Parts: sequence; structure tokens; C-alpha cells
Amino acid sequence: MAPTQLTKTAQQARQHLMVPAQDMKTLGQRALPALSHGEGIHVFTENGHRLIDGPAGMWCTQVGYGCSEIAEAIADQATTLSYNSPWYTTNTQAAALAEQIATMTPGDLNRIFFTTGGSTAVDTALRFVEYFNNALGRPSKKGIVVRRDGYHGSTALTFSCSGRSQTAPHFDPPAQRIHYLSSPNIRLSGGQTEAQFLETLVEEFETLIEANGPETIGAFLAEPILASGGVIIPPKGYHARFKEICEKHEILYISDEVVTAFGRCGEWFASEKVFGVVPDIITFAKGVTSGYVPLGGVAISDKLLARVSGENAGGAYFGNGYTYSGHPVSCAAGLANIKVFEKLDLLNHVRKISGYFNQALQGLRDLPGVVDVRVSGLVGCVECMTVDQRIIAKAEDRAMATEIDTLCFEMGLIVRPLANLCVISPPLTITEDQIDEICDILRTAIIRVTAEHLAA
Ligand SMILES: Cc1ncc(COP(=O)(O)O)c(C=O)c1O
Repeated sequence: MAPTQLTKTAQQARQHLMVPAQDMKTLGQRALPALSHGEGIHVFTENGHRLIDGPAGMWCTQVGYGCSEIAEAIADQATTLSYNSPWYTTNTQAAALAEQIATMTPGDLNRIFFTTGGSTAVDTALRFVEYFNNALGRPSKKGIVVRRDGYHGSTALTFSCSGRSQTAPHFDPPAQRIHYLSSPNIRLSGGQTEAQFLETLVEEFETLIEANGPETIGAFLAEPILASGGVIIPPKGYHARFKEICEKHEILYISDEVVTAFGRCGEWFASEKVFGVVPDIITFAKGVTSGYVPLGGVAISDKLLARVSGENAGGAYFGNGYTYSGHPVSCAAGLANIKVFEKLDLLNHVRKISGYFNQALQGLRDLPGVVDVRVSGLVGCVECMTVDQRIIAKAEDRAMATEIDTLCFEMGLIVRPLANLCVISPPLTITEDQIDEICDILRTAIIRVTAEHLAA
């Protein structure tokens, strides 16, 4: 299409927008497809192409698009009180949402600090660990243990904690205090059983602590499911075992539930009920407002806070915060979102339909080019390779998956383009018929695209 035929949005985007993970080669030459509106689980492009939102935006549009209850709560709050400074005032919505979330978190994680999204939530959790150990007179206990294939955000510190930060082109090496463990992806285990692999991973963690000294390790930061790293589901019992080790060495366990909270796995929070662990700190974002407006937060254990507050505070303050911490409009959206969950009985719906979702995606396992299908709750991925039995994706595998995603798009389904994976984590309101439609499109696209690539 000649530049003059571009829509106004496409022209503006080409000339002035820079997007996340911007491909620098095509800066100014190419713009992403522009969406005009959404309805339920569907979004529409400017030229009217209807698409199923397969990845629920960025794993966040839990209740789907066009929810008038959330829209009205946002409008009402913006009219009533559009902003307050969280430094010297608070607001009804932030206080009510904090109280509500405290009833949903496991254990004694009853204190909520609101942030602007997931990265700032994880950043806040890590800054709390730093503050906590300094306040307790343990200034060397600052190491952060993370996993390869983990993803924790895009601030300098949280990106450093993401497993792929070491190979990100043109970024400086991650902070020295960050230690990387292996990805808990059984496909990388060299043929071990799940139980053997768990022992290998546990041993690696213990060895790392011993080598560095537990007095230098402050936190273990982990997503229950490594979402952006490839929908990696650790071996059974992994989280509980790692928590035991953390407790032994007074290492804080931070569960990054930015993806898994708010219904994605059938619970408000997945850590305890799905993965058997009560963390010291949980981070959340995305689904808390179903993506209607930005919001994130950190839930911190009362026990931890008691050690550095009140008589133990020593006159200090936790110097961390954002202009938009506890933003009244975002918190109003959060409260309305929870009401919609309750009205639709959405947690129960996810618990019931996730079996069907699993079965439907697993039905693609036998297609040519498909080497693995991983599903937990309403998070799933189909892993494709040009060579059967290949473990680590190469450029040609990524290219093939991108072609599958592109063909799906043409056929009316957005699939999150993530390396050699087709990621599907739909809005939680999804029905069985819609899951069938997703899998039919995926099936057709995989068969058509792999036919060319595998024959080559
Ligand atoms: C587990 C996890 N943590 C943190 C983040 C960062 O969240 P945000 O993009 O809202 O800053 C993400 C984003 O995808 C995530 O998946």
C-alpha cells in the first residue's frame, strides 16, 4: 500500500509512535495494526476485521471488552474525584480496594501498596527487600535469585531480573546482585522424570545459596507459571520446596502473580490454592482492572512489616512511591471489576472451563510441527519446531511460528507472537464454542504453515 493510502492512525503511528520492543529496523516504516473497538472477547481493526483476542491483550482483559459496569465506575470516579496525592491524602476507592484484596490474598498478606502496573509492583517488592534487610542491620543480604525464562518487567531492576536480560542486545549487563537459576522447563531437563528434575532444581538452588552465603541472598522472585518466558509450568511441588529452602535461610519469597492472579488460574491468587505456597510478598497487576486502566500492587505479610514498623521502625520511612499510587479512578475500576467477577461467577467458570480448554489445546499436540502443548488454568501455549525433537528454538522455528500467528490473524484470531510459541490466554468469559473456534483456526494455520516449512 502506498503511504498516501494509509489510514490517518497508521500515518501518525509510523511517524511518531514508538512501541514496546520496537523493531528498530522498521522504525518509521511499519505500524502495528490499529484496533478501533472491542466487544466481549472480540476486538476489531480500523477496517472492520473481527478478531478473537486470544492472549486477552497482554494476559489482562479478564472480563472482556465493553463492560459497562467498569466503564461507568471509571466515569463516575473521574467526575467525583479524578486524583489525589497519595503522599498526603488517600481516597475511598484505594482504601476499599486494599481491604477487598487483603481478603483474597493467602496467609497474612494484608497490607497493599498500589503501583502503576506490574513492573512497578515488582520493583516495589524488591525495594522493600532492600529496605527490610537494611533496617534489620543486614546490609549484605540483597541478592535476588531469579530463573532463566522468568519475566518481571521493564524497569532497570525488574528487567535485570528477567531471565533473558543477559542476552538483550544493546543493554548493559544486569545488576551484579542478581543470580540466575535454570528455567524449570522439563523439556530442558535432558529426559529426567518430573520428580528427578525437581530434585535437580532444588539442589541447584541450595548450591547457589551455599556458594554465595545465605547472608548475601535477600529474595527469591518467581512467577508461579513463567508466562512470557514460554508458559512454563514448574514440576509439581516446586514452589513449596523452594519456599521451605527460603524459610531455612530467611530469604523472602516473592510470588510474581502479575499474570496468574485475578482469575487466570481459577482463583483470585494462585500461589496457595493452585501452587501450594504462601509467599511473603505477592505482586499483581493486569487482571486487577481487567486492563481497563493501569494499576498494580504489592501485598506484604503483616509479620514482615511488624519487624520494620511501629516501635521497630527506628524513625525511618519506606521511600518508595508513585504519583499515581492508589489512583482513585484505577481503584474504582478495580472494585467494579471484582463486582463483575462476582456477578458472572467468573472464578467458578474458569475452574470449570479450564479442563475443556486444556483438552482442546492438547488436541493439537499430534499436528506436524507441534512439539509441546502446555496449559494451566486459562493460560496455554502450543510450541512449534521445524525439526521434531528440537529443544531450543532457532530462527527458523520462530519464523514458522510467526507465520502461524500471521495466518491466524488473517483468519480472525490474535495469537501472541512469542518466539516459537502460539500463546493463548483468552478473556475469562470464554465459552466452549469459542474455545473450539480458537482451536479450529490454530489447527488450520498450523497444518497449512508447517506443510511448507516441514517439507522444505
Ligand atoms: C509476571 C510479570 N511480571 C511483571 C510484568 C510487568 O508488568 P507491566 O508490563 O504491567 O509493567 C509482566 C508483564 O507481562 C509479567 O508478565
